[in-house]
Amino acid sequence: MNQFRVFLLWLALTFGLPWFVLLIWPTLKMSSIEPLPVYELDEKGKKVVDDNGNGNIVSYYPPLASGSKTAGEAIYVREGCAQCHSQLIRDPRVAMDSYKREWGPVFDSMAPQETRPTNPRDYLAEHHPVIGLRRLGGDLSNVAFRYGSREQMHLLLYDSRIAQPASNMPPYRFLYETRKIEGKGPSLRALALTGELAPEAGYEVIPTGDAEALVDYLMALKKNYTDPSRPVVAGAGAN
Ligand code: HEC
Repeated sequence: MNQFRVFLLWLALTFGLPWFVLLIWPTLKMSSIEPLPVYELDEKGKKVVDDNGNGNIVSYYPPLASGSKTAGEAIYVREGCAQCHSQLIRDPRVAMDSYKREWGPVFDSMAPQETRPTNPRDYLAEHHPVIGLRRLGGDLSNVAFRYGSREQMHLLLYDSRIAQPASNMPPYRFLYETRKIEGKGPSLRALALTGELAPEAGYEVIPTGDAEALVDYLMALKKNYTDPSRPVVAGAGAN
């Protein structure tokens, strides 16, 4: 009987400890973080306070996403992009995320953009952070650094094999509409498709509103601001 109690105790610990460390503790720790307030400063760099000693908050850091980026985020969630793409750059001390240019921190002085590991505060700027499950495709935290134009991004969504013949990313053609060219000529938004993918003569392929919103969202994915847990914004975090 005594043995059985010891067995039960170990059983409870075996399941309980990971449950606490992996779920409960991080939830308690992360659920209370908030964007840092940025206060109005006077010309001497001192915080402007009212009679009660409260500062005047002019903005929050990091700034919250809005508009079509939020709509694009919802499409990203709906289409299950997070099944194959993460948005999380781990610390170089614990993982090898830095091997890919502009994915993790860049150690190459020729790199066009400096990047850093992501921080829990980065996700405060998003309505539904899509950290992702695994990486069949690359990490997208900084994908906007790698894309020069929206057109390039649209072509990737229409068919990722245009640029990378071995890609196994599914084509998202249903986010595009093939329609008859009307008026003077093809629309400026028409995709430059060639070869087998080119539409029939007299037709053009244009992005739907969903595709435009998704691209707005993807083109905003870049951590081009300082670490939000250590902002260099004067006055932030005071009080
Ligand atoms: C079945 C897995 C899978 C799904 C689902 C998927 N992708 Fe991909 N994605 C990939 C792979 C693999 C690549 C790498 C393609 C290549 O070889 O360049 C990729 C590449 C990309 C890239 C280029 C990344 C870079 O670093 O240049 C973007 C952007 C992208 N995907 C966006 C999306 C979006 C948006 C969705 C959802 C609408 C999505 N993906 C869904 C597998 C996937």
